[in-house]
Amino acid sequence: MRLIFLGAPGVGKGTQADLIAAKFGRPKISTGDILREAVRNKTPMGVQAKACMDQGKLVPDSVVVGIVRDKLAEPVCARGFLLDGFPRTVPQAEELTAMLKTRGLQLDRVINVSVPREDIVRRLTGRRSCPKCQAVFHVEFTPPKRAGFCDRCGDELMQRSDDTRETVENRLAVYEEQTAPLIAYYRQRGILSDVDGTGTVEQVQQRVAELLSANGLA
Ligand code: AP5
Repeated sequence: MRLIFLGAPGVGKGTQADLIAAKFGRPKISTGDILREAVRNKTPMGVQAKACMDQGKLVPDSVVVGIVRDKLAEPVCARGFLLDGFPRTVPQAEELTAMLKTRGLQLDRVINVSVPREDIVRRLTGRRSCPKCQAVFHVEFTPPKRAGFCDRCGDELMQRSDDTRETVENRLAVYEEQTAPLIAYYRQRGILSDVDGTGTVEQVQQRVAELLSANGLA
């Protein structure tokens, strides 16, 4: 199972990728999570990435390609993986194809999740994340049992610094310009499936499960 979850910021691709990763016991590779950890730890990569992330811009291709190359080399990825938030540009997609080719592998499917723009803004501005275990909640749609604290590890939940209305607008513009072209890119290669991301988390999960099953992946 080698999958990409593609879609605009806040469509719920991370939430869906987490559920599939847990269900099938495959690792989820989220370049956003890895970059945020580097920012928290103030590593050289984190310091470089922070300015881009705070403005809603993309981190340079060379940085994220390096992250993914290292991750894919880990033994845990040998039986498959789910990519969340990578690739985000055509050059990143080309690098990924080349990385897999050297291992004699190819992608199974790209799952393109979409929801209307007004839902995106509502989902992002209400998102709360756990800085410790990366669990994601929503104040309205998927609230934690105890307000403000993580159900999984008990840590205090935080709002991501790039989930402000202004930065969300920037991220959506960057998505349209640099990432949306990947939809046509993967459609042309015959491996793209569209998923309607509206409705509850469970309803979307059902749609994802059905498309995996229809493609012989579950
Ligand atoms: P990243 O962390 O990847 O952010 P993103 O792509 O903007 O995506 P999000 O994590 O915001 O949204 P999501 O679709 O995963 O939604 P989620 O499931 O959390 O990247 C952050 C930054 O890092 C980038 O801006 C860039 O600077 C940098 N970066 C990362 N990768 C890069 C790359 N490859 N190249 C260059 N730079 C890169 O859901 C959102 C909310 O909605 C949550 O609260 C959730 O609980 C809720 N929700 C989910 N599903 C539903 C539902 N069905 N109904 C109601 N609520 C729902």
